[in-house]
Amino acid sequence: MEIVVLTGAGISTESGLGTFRDADGLWTHYDLNDVATAEGFGRDPALVHDFYNARRANCADAAPNAAHNALANLEKSATHNLTIVTQNVDDLHERAGSRTVIHMHGTLTGALCAACQHRWRAPLVMDPTDLCPRCATPATRPDVVWFGEIPYQMDRISELVAASDIFAAIGTSAEVYPAAGLVELAGGETLELNLEPSARTNSFDRRRFGPATEIVPEWVVELTG
Ligand code: APR
Repeated sequence: MEIVVLTGAGISTESGLGTFRDADGLWTHYDLNDVATAEGFGRDPALVHDFYNARRANCADAAPNAAHNALANLEKSATHNLTIVTQNVDDLHERAGSRTVIHMHGTLTGALCAACQHRWRAPLVMDPTDLCPRCATPATRPDVVWFGEIPYQMDRISELVAASDIFAAIGTSAEVYPAAGLVELAGGETLELNLEPSARTNSFDRRRFGPATEIVPEWVVELTG
């Protein structure tokens, strides 16, 4: 059985990483135009690096939670073929043991040269004076997808969702496209697992609400017996 799971910031909340749009979310403390757009990076790269350096440090201090671990267990099951498509830039799915993870918004562990598009593993702390290891230009940025940029691997993601028997969205407000529109492409049963109804909750066949650390392990046990 082919399963595609889309995850958002809500799956990492109980690991201590903030969400974006909840009451105390990141976008209540930062203007996304300053720290999550290419224009903002052009205006003040030091501010952008400070923002991602803080998130990289938080992520290093965080640990995968029961929801990440349940999905890693589901991937190991012989009867289900799981692909995780995550909007998250943290590496908690990988640290839980998941192997098939597509980061459609990039990763905090990645660095990208804005001049030559070279990619390498990011140090814990980056700053605007860092030189690209390949072209030696001081144009390094986090390898994350900013607003107005094209998410990674969308063709592959769309094919996987269309071919899935089950498409489940976990911990996302469904406010950002194209991720929020993936449910429309799903070829099989669709399920929303979230703390509260998302903006696209009515597009799902079924929905279950509660903390991810409770409802995701329950769902995985129902699937795998
Ligand atoms: N368990 C399950 N769901 C939770 C939990 C929890 N413990 N805590 C919060 N949630 C839910 C919230 O109800 C909300 O619907 O997680 C969702 C978080 O929504 P957002 O903060 O909007 O995060 P996300 O949907 O991942 O944002 C998508 O927006 O800013 C961009 O690039 C950024 O990838 C991000 C994208």
